[in-house]
Amino acid sequence: MLFDTHAHMDDAAFDADRHEIIAALAQADISLLMNPGCDLPTSRNAVALSNQYDFIYAAVGSHPDAANLVNEELMETYRGLCQNNPKVKAIGEIGLDYHYEDVPREIQQRAFRMQMQLARELCLPVIIHERDAHEDGMAIVSEFPDVSGVFHCYCGSAEMANILVDKGYYIGFTGVLTFKNARKAVEVASSIPLERIVLETDCPYMSPEPFRGKRNDPSRLYRMAERLAEIRGLPVEEVQRITTENGKRLYRI
Ligand code: NI
Repeated sequence: MLFDTHAHMDDAAFDADRHEIIAALAQADISLLMNPGCDLPTSRNAVALSNQYDFIYAAVGSHPDAANLVNEELMETYRGLCQNNPKVKAIGEIGLDYHYEDVPREIQQRAFRMQMQLARELCLPVIIHERDAHEDGMAIVSEFPDVSGVFHCYCGSAEMANILVDKGYYIGFTGVLTFKNARKAVEVASSIPLERIVLETDCPYMSPEPFRGKRNDPSRLYRMAERLAEIRGLPVEEVQRITTENGKRLYRI
């Protein structure tokens, strides 16, 4: 039993075979899946998928790449989607991305704060995307001590991960964990409490070894569980069970 805590099944990469892939996931032991949004259209698609499949849940929100479209009217629309669809379990993905910096930093920060506020108001967890923006990310998260959630596709230090754990956050690991040069991710995965680790594919991106570079899909999540079991010196069944429980606790499912 596995929980893919971050999968973009609404992505155009799945347009040709979305239903077939989703229908085959039970065989791959994927029993739960969280599909976050990246802007309004993808958030709507995520909600539609969650209404179509029992085991799929949704999050709504605007990724830092779409931060320039975040305004009060959009918050009102997201609020409505959350209130009218019980399978919307989080606000996300939201955050900061200074790696590509497609949108100016101040606009990203403003959008991030507005969506943290929405999460606080609706008592929902957040799904945070944070890349090369550790300092500002931590500062904004600290402004909202009553909000928590997950740092997905975590790329920070072990020290920062432990601070986030103390603040109530979970840490999400993708296929990066299986890469040969994943020294940093391995260090984080071995130093934080297992009860705060969740697994994700972030598909269609981030395929684990030995599928690196190919289109990713949730059936490959077992590779992250195998690798984490290796790192922690635990049976893989134990890691599957605990990370699934963690995901359910995180999203209150
Ligand atoms: Ni994502």
